Amino acid sequence: MRASTPTADEGFREVNLLDVYPRMKRNLAERAEWKARTPENRLIAKQFGLEYFDGTRAQGYGGYRYDGRWKAVARRMIDHDGLTGAESILDIGCAKGFFLHDFRELLPGVRVAGIDVSRYALDHAMEDVKPFLQQGNATHLPFPDRSFDVVISINVVHNLPDALCRQAIREMERVGRRHKYLQVDSFRNEQERINLEQWQLTAELIYSTDHWKQLLAEEGYTGDVYWTITE
Ligand SMILES: C[S@@+](CC[C@H](N)C(=O)[O-])C[C@H]1O[C@@H](n2cnc3c(N)ncnc32)[C@H](O)[C@@H]1O
Repeated sequence: MRASTPTADEGFREVNLLDVYPRMKRNLAERAEWKARTPENRLIAKQFGLEYFDGTRAQGYGGYRYDGRWKAVARRMIDHDGLTGAESILDIGCAKGFFLHDFRELLPGVRVAGIDVSRYALDHAMEDVKPFLQQGNATHLPFPDRSFDVVISINVVHNLPDALCRQAIREMERVGRRHKYLQVDSFRNEQERINLEQWQLTAELIYSTDHWKQLLAEEGYTGDVYWTITE
């Protein structure tokens, strides 16, 4: 274990590729909904079934529907990584495949793959990407070493306990060749920590950004990383 605070020299870079994703600040009405996020509702959410995606806001998204919001993020990633369409992209925790759908629209020729634990999300995925999605766990990716040019995992690995989260990060490293983008729930101060505790439904890990940086350095992560902060 490294004692010092990790730096960019140790392999990963902090870069927010979701800065173009609309509306990250929670409004007051939403804050009122947090009270309904009881331990019972959290248990249901953690099954990642119908209730989590298309049930109530107390148990999840309250309707996980395609609205094109991810397209700006895909375009941002294409520009940032200099993607041309000749690449292969893996989305870990792809849910209904919205992000991969957008990559396919923006980058003709790109090869995509998605993996998710949720049978429900995969059964309700967008039709054009369904053939490229499979059920599986971020901790055991069913792909050979260095299979993908781009490996993405957004808001997934904090749902695992520490040891399994670390394993999932090592799996990203193993199957990736060039670009990686990881995003996790986190906080930078006490208020953001309280917000995160109240808002989150499925997280096993409530870690500060410094804690995550230490963990990523310890696991040898070499991609880009950013945080989902509940402001
Ligand atoms: C918060 S959602 C994020 C979905 C998508 N990445 C996005 O940003 O919209 C978390 C997703 O991770 C999936 N998931 C949770 N634990 C997982 C695991 N251990 N392996 C693979 N997928 C997982 C859930 O089913 C769900 O689709």
